[in-house]
Amino acid sequence: MIVIIGASGAVGIPLIKELTRRDTHLRILTSNSASATNLKSLGVIETIIGDFHSDEDVKNVMKGASSICYIPARFREDEFEIGKRVVDSACNEQVEHFCFCSAYHPQMEQLGHHWQKLKLEEHLINSDLMYTVVQPSMFMQNLRVEWPRIIKEGTYPRPYSPESQMNVIDTDDLGEAMANILLDHRFWGGTYELCGSETLSHNEMAGIISEELGEKVDAVHRDIEDWKAWAIKKEWTDYAIRNYVNMCRHYNDHGYKYGNDLILQTILGRPATKYRSFIKKFIESQST
Ligand SMILES: NC(=O)c1ccc[n+]([C@@H]2O[C@H](COP(=O)([O-])OP(=O)(O)OC[C@H]3O[C@@H](n4cnc5c(N)ncnc54)[C@H](OP(=O)(O)O)[C@@H]3O)[C@@H](O)[C@H]2O)c1
Repeated sequence: MIVIIGASGAVGIPLIKELTRRDTHLRILTSNSASATNLKSLGVIETIIGDFHSDEDVKNVMKGASSICYIPARFREDEFEIGKRVVDSACNEQVEHFCFCSAYHPQMEQLGHHWQKLKLEEHLINSDLMYTVVQPSMFMQNLRVEWPRIIKEGTYPRPYSPESQMNVIDTDDLGEAMANILLDHRFWGGTYELCGSETLSHNEMAGIISEELGEKVDAVHRDIEDWKAWAIKKEWTDYAIRNYVNMCRHYNDHGYKYGNDLILQTILGRPATKYRSFIKKFIESQST
């Protein structure tokens, strides 16, 4: 039985679809009943409603688990403390394997949400648990947030230079790779940078979107102050805004480039999904 913590987001849902397709017994800690209902509809056998801030809830969900998969929620100031609670409970439960979804370049100290993941990687090493770490690059599916503006205005706004080269991954590939890791001991014990096979600027991505939509779409540089005003309205925390802004500065100055897709190909046993194939699939999913 595999326990997943952090399951209802961009990483968890494709992973769950892949695991339930392979008849895996899953138990999930979820924070609310709406997510629990959705997870059940995807074939999850056990859902336990609780909070990853609670020692008791984290301990309870792990009883009898063979593997734990931990996906941290986005932009939490206490991300390391939550992760440490999960790792320490997994040690007490003596689970066979711990899979941690970290991020590409966790060494970036000025990006708090990366740095806290690196600290958890260190904690995992010291835990003596058998662990596997995946470090995914930027998700192709982030496009979802800007999709309404792409359709309405023909613009794809980014709060950094649309010329910056970015390494992107399809979260369906990520979910499949994580499922392969969880179910196949041969992949255990590694730390894997996972990214797609192309490095593209948002100008190039907008070009592919234009061709597939049959409508002109331009990537545009959104002023960071305009983005901040949006984030404040959406009630993002100060921590989240500060780190997102630092990330945009980093993307602006350096991009997210030089990834190598050989590891992802090896774990998938096939090539990574190309951006154009992702866009075709994404457009189709929007029309159904
Ligand atoms: N976006 C990118 O390009 C990118 C790239 C690389 C890495 N990452 C990293 O990927 C990670 C996962 O992203 P994501 O979007 O899948 O995460 P997410 O949706 O923010 O969080 C994962 C899940 O955690 C659960 N959760 C939230 N609060 C909880 C609580 N108090 N107790 C128990 N569960 C709780 C929620 O599921 P329930 O509704 O079921 O509770 C939520 O869907 C992030 O850490 C992010 O930094 C992102």
